[in-house]
Amino acid sequence: MKETFEQFARQWGPRIEAALEQAVAGASGCPEILHEAMHYALLGPGKRLRPMLVLLAAEACGGEPQRAMPAACAVEMVHAYSLVHDDLPAMDNDDLRRGRPTCHKVFGDALAILAGDALLTLAFETLAKGISPPERAALCCTVLAEAAGRAGLVGGQVDDLVAQKHPSLPSKVFYENNSFGEEASESASTDCRSHPTGRETPSASPHVNTITGRKGNPLSAVEYLESIHRRKTGAMILASLRLGALAAGASAAEEQMLADYGQALGLAFQIVDDLLDVRGEESQVGKRLRKDAAQGKLTFPGLLGQEESLRRAQRLADEAVEAVSPMGDRACRLQALARYVLERTR
Ligand code: IPE
Ligand code: IPE
Ligand code: MG
Ligand code: MG
Ligand code: MG
Repeated sequence: MKETFEQFARQWGPRIEAALEQAVAGASGCPEILHEAMHYALLGPGKRLRPMLVLLAAEACGGEPQRAMPAACAVEMVHAYSLVHDDLPAMDNDDLRRGRPTCHKVFGDALAILAGDALLTLAFETLAKGISPPERAALCCTVLAEAAGRAGLVGGQVDDLVAQKHPSLPSKVFYENNSFGEEASESASTDCRSHPTGRETPSASPHVNTITGRKGNPLSAVEYLESIHRRKTGAMILASLRLGALAAGASAAEEQMLADYGQALGLAFQIVDDLLDVRGEESQVGKRLRKDAAQGKLTFPGLLGQEESLRRAQRLADEAVEAVSPMGDRACRLQALARYVLERTR
């Protein structure tokens, strides 16, 4: 019988957490309160999907998962920092994360910002010290920096705010500089708000509601949203796989299969995140729900309705499974993870 994702998670989750504990353990000179806030954000009960992707990618390429552990820790640190900042009052203003009060609710905004900063920098320290030889460590740092940075996670978070016309953005500067132009956020937000509950199926095809990009290229609202999700969530998922592949010395063909898997999985993952906001159970998901529509977020259920969003996520999970099938048994845990992403309730 094929191993399920849960079986793998039971085995590797505690090992990842032990490695994270060790990596975040107080350095001399680190204020105790900062260590507490970092520990709180990093070691809360998360799913550890990104570190597992690192380890599973290494395994799929014939490597020893344990050797990729510094990279697994590094991606979880970047992820934890991104959640702390995402929850801040100036961003999504959330008070619940991983079933507990958000970092800033416990430690205050200033310390939460700084704990996020320290987790982000610790990620690169962990990679630089833990991966060898130094050339490989440098390449790993580049991969993570690009995924986490301006054209990756941070850029995607900005796009997310722009699409929502976030009150904390100075509209003139941001909308004029945004690559899709002001019409993009206007039209996309209108689409989203016309289906605030995400329960209805939009009457018009999403491709009818085109957005005119700055260069005059028509872009469907769905394509626009996909481009946001690709950066906001997909970039870190792709980087996790790439880091696992690098630790295992993967071939170019293996890297390509993992990239195809990651493209599909990243999008499926964020569609399910959007769906959980609409129809999840707060006690299971561990965060406040029904907030995306209320905040005017551009989401898949908002654009396409729940059923079509789910079908899309299913198709993408199938694509992910298919992409790594030439790797045979070594990739069966990655395939189990893709199926889990679809069925997850948290
Ligand atoms: C939530 O990520 C944030 C998004 C990128 C959508 P996860 O659902 O992986 O959160 P944890 O790590 O399990 O808490
Ligand atoms: C945030 O997306 C993705 C990050 C890069 C942190 P969301 O704002 O949808 O994540 P949740 O739903 O708060 O976890
Ligand atoms: Mg957000
Ligand atoms: Mg959020
Ligand atoms: Mg969300």
